[in-house]
Amino acid sequence: MKLTYYGHSCFALEEKGVTLLFDPFLSGNPKAPVKPDQVKANYILVSHAHGDHLGDTVDIAKRNHALVIATHEVANLVGGQGAESHGMHIGGKRSFDFGYVRIAPAFHGSGVEGGHACGFIVKFFGKVVYHAGDTGLFGDMKLLAELEKIDVALLPIGDNYTMGIGDAAVAARFLGAPLVVPMHYNTFPVIQANPLEFKNKVESEQKGTEVRVVSPGETTAI
Ligand code: NI
Ligand code: MN
Repeated sequence: MKLTYYGHSCFALEEKGVTLLFDPFLSGNPKAPVKPDQVKANYILVSHAHGDHLGDTVDIAKRNHALVIATHEVANLVGGQGAESHGMHIGGKRSFDFGYVRIAPAFHGSGVEGGHACGFIVKFFGKVVYHAGDTGLFGDMKLLAELEKIDVALLPIGDNYTMGIGDAAVAARFLGAPLVVPMHYNTFPVIQANPLEFKNKVESEQKGTEVRVVSPGETTAI
């Protein structure tokens, strides 16, 4: 299946004509390789309502008749702006036509009153993909690895707002995913990080883990 990186924390998963988009922050992203009207989506998963994650969700959802999946408060926010949405919450799991979504915790602000930021574990056809959202390192990533056999982990490495390289390397070890893709770095000066430093650290410390640095606009097979 195809994994496309649109910069920051935005990725598209594509398989069997279904496109699932994570955190589509494009129009305000200086590194975005495409405009919001150039992306397709059937589903949009939004980890929290900070502008660099909620981004162009409502526009893209409306134009594509895509379903937004998020925590209840974020789903209500986009629902109130005319997008079709489905609210879930941490610990909940639900089936969709591509597989299922499990809402994972994330230690971060939600960007909406009374809400909670989250990560997503998505069974997308044959693969289990974990998008960590914005989060600090937490020990229950080990529990996530016990609950799900994660094939691909998308982890923030930019520090300041989220895990930096050192903590993200620990996260990669806790999760045990054979493939890790870094995100949430180099979009702005405050989150400068060298993804090759992350790659070298993880690959030298953990046998059997590949870190794949994907450039904005690049598609990789997973
Ligand atoms: Ni955030
Ligand atoms: Mn962020």
